[in-house]
Amino acid sequence: MADNRLRIMDTTIRDGQQSLWATRMTTAEMLPILPKMDEVGYWAIEAWGGATFDTCLRFLDEDPWERLRLIKERCPNTPLAMLVRGQNLVGYKHYSSDVVERFIERAHANGVDVFRVFDALNDIDNIRDCAAAIKKVGAHFEPAISYTRSPVHTLDSYIGYARQLAELGADSLCIKDMAGLLVPYRAAQLVSALRTEIGLPVHMHCHFIGGMASTNYLRGAEEGAEIVDCAHAPLAFGNSQPAVEMTVSSLSGSPFDTGLDLDLLFEIADYWDAVRKRGKHQRGITTLTHMRIYKHQIPGGMMSNLVGQLDLQNMHDRLPEVVAEIPRVRKEVGYPPLVTPMSQIVGTQAVMNVLTGKRWGIVSQEMRDYLMGFYGKTPAPIDPAIQEKVLGKVDVAKLQEEAKNAHLQTYDEAAAEIGDLAESEEDVLSYALFPNEARAYLERRAAGKVHPITEDMNATAENQDMDTEEESDMNVTQIRELIEALDGSSVAEVTIKDGTTEVAIKKPVAVSAPAPAPAPAAAPAPAAAPAAPAAAPAATPAEPAAAEPAASARPATWKAVESPMVGTFYQAPAPDADPFVKLGDTVEAGQTLCIVEAMKLMNELPAEEPGIIREICVKDAEPVEFGQPIFYYEPVA
Ligand code: CO
Repeated sequence: MADNRLRIMDTTIRDGQQSLWATRMTTAEMLPILPKMDEVGYWAIEAWGGATFDTCLRFLDEDPWERLRLIKERCPNTPLAMLVRGQNLVGYKHYSSDVVERFIERAHANGVDVFRVFDALNDIDNIRDCAAAIKKVGAHFEPAISYTRSPVHTLDSYIGYARQLAELGADSLCIKDMAGLLVPYRAAQLVSALRTEIGLPVHMHCHFIGGMASTNYLRGAEEGAEIVDCAHAPLAFGNSQPAVEMTVSSLSGSPFDTGLDLDLLFEIADYWDAVRKRGKHQRGITTLTHMRIYKHQIPGGMMSNLVGQLDLQNMHDRLPEVVAEIPRVRKEVGYPPLVTPMSQIVGTQAVMNVLTGKRWGIVSQEMRDYLMGFYGKTPAPIDPAIQEKVLGKVDVAKLQEEAKNAHLQTYDEAAAEIGDLAESEEDVLSYALFPNEARAYLERRAAGKVHPITEDMNATAENQDMDTEEESDMNVTQIRELIEALDGSSVAEVTIKDGTTEVAIKKPVAVSAPAPAPAPAAAPAPAAAPAAPAAAPAATPAEPAAAEPAASARPATWKAVESPMVGTFYQAPAPDADPFVKLGDTVEAGQTLCIVEAMKLMNELPAEEPGIIREICVKDAEPVEFGQPIFYYEPVA
C-alpha cells in the first residue's frame, strides 16, 4: 500500500455476532444493510466461517452456502473474508485433504476472497492443505498466528512460525489475539518484528475484552500494521472487536487516517442497534472478570462457558478454584493457546479436576486425543506423568504415526453416503463437515419445510426508537411454567444472564432410575449435599423420591456410581457399538463404564474399584443430573 492509511476489516456479521450474540444473527437480518456496508470502503468484510457455518444448519435452518451467495450479491465492491480453522475447516475435527481442497474451492467460487487460516496450536502441518488449496484458486491467503502467553511463546517463536507461514505463500499475516491478551507495547514489538523479519502486510485481530485492543491498534499502526479488525458499535466491545466508529475517529488527522465516512458508519450503526434491540441482545461490556484476563488468561467466551457449566452443576461457588486450576492444566499439557477447541478441552478438564476432587480422574475423549498428539504438535512437551496417568504405558509416537495415516472420509465417500439428498457439491461438503446437522437440514429441505431466506425489513428506521431495553423480560418462573406447559418436561434450572436465558430441562428419566436425591438409608452414599439441583429458584417441588422402595430393595453391599456432572448418558462409544458394560459384567478398576457428554465433550467415566454391575439406572442417551446414580455395582475383593 502506497500510503500509511490504516485499512479496516469489518467483523460485524461474523466475529461480532459470534462473540456477542452466540452466532444467532440470521441472514435476513444482514441483507438489508449490506449494500450500505459495501459503500464504506472496508479492506474486507468478514462474512463467513468460524462458528457461523454450523449454527446456520444447527439453529437457524439456513444453508450457509446460500447465505454466502446472498451476501456476495449485495457486496460486489468489497472482498469477503472467512475464518478457517486449519485442517478443521469450520468444524471441530480434522478433515481429509480432498475435503479441505474442495471446501476452499467452493467457498471461493461462492464469494470468499480472503481466507484467514489459523491453527489452535500454531502447528504448521495443520495449515498446509488449506494453504495449497487457497493458492490453487488464487485467493488471498492470510494465515494467523494464534497469540497467547507462556514461557515457550516468545517473540522468536512467533517469528519462526511466521517464517513458516510465509513459505506457504502467505499474502498477509494476521496476529490473532482471540483472548484479548495482547498489550500495546508487546503489540508494537511483535508488529515491528514481523515487518522487519518477514515483510508481509500485518493484519491485527484483537478482541476488546479487557479494553486494550484500541491502543494495540494504535501502536501497531505506528509500527507498520496495515489492517485492523473492527465491528460496528452495537456489536463491538466486550468479547468482540473495538468499534469501527471509534477507531476511525481516533485516527482522524493522523498519518494513519482511514478516510472512512463517519456519517455513513453511524447510519449503519443505527441499523445494527435496531436489530440488536429487537433481538434483545446485550451490548458488549467489559466486566471485572474480563479485565482479570491479564492475570488468569482465560478468554471471555471460555469464561462464559465455565460460568454456564458451573451454574448448571449448581457449583457456581467453585469458579475461583476452576480459574486457578486452568493454568495448572494448561502447563501440564504443554501450554496450548486457549482457543477453540483447546479452550473447551482444557476448561472441561479443570472443571472435572475440581468437581470430582480428583485431578485427572475423569478425562474426556478429546483430551485423550490431544495427549496422544492427534490435534498436532504441542507448543511445549506434555508432562510425561500426566500422559502416563491418562493413557497408561503407550508408545505415543507410534500412535501419532498411526493417526497421521488413519483414513479420513473422502469427498466421494461423503457423496455416496448422503446420496440424492445432496443436490450440489456444496450440499455434499456440508454433509462431510456436519453429517447429522446437514442431513437433518437436507431432509427438511427435501420435504419443503425450509423457509426461503428473505430480507428482514423490520429492522429499518421506524423501529429504531423502540426501546426494548425498558421492556420487562419474562421472569424465571414464567419461563419455567411456559416450558413445562409446552412439552411436559420439568425444568431443572432457569438462569438469566447477560440477557440470555439458559434453561436446563429435566426430561422424565427411566423408571428404574431413582430421583436425583441420594437414597437416604442405602449404604455409603457418598457426596450427598450438592447432589440435587432442586434448589433452583422458585421451583415447583420436585417429584418426591420414588426412590425409596427401589433403594431398600437393594442389598446394602451395592454401591452407586454417580454422575459427576449434568449431561447425557451414553452406554456405548458410538450408537451402533457394543455397550461398555452390561448387567452382570465384572469390571476392573479404571475400566470405562459409560460416557457422560457434557460441555460438548465426551467424558469417559471409569470404575473406581473392581465390581459386578448389578443395575443400570439410566437409559441410553438420557440426561443425567449431577450426583444421580447411573449404576449400582457389587464390589468384589
Ligand atoms: Co476473533
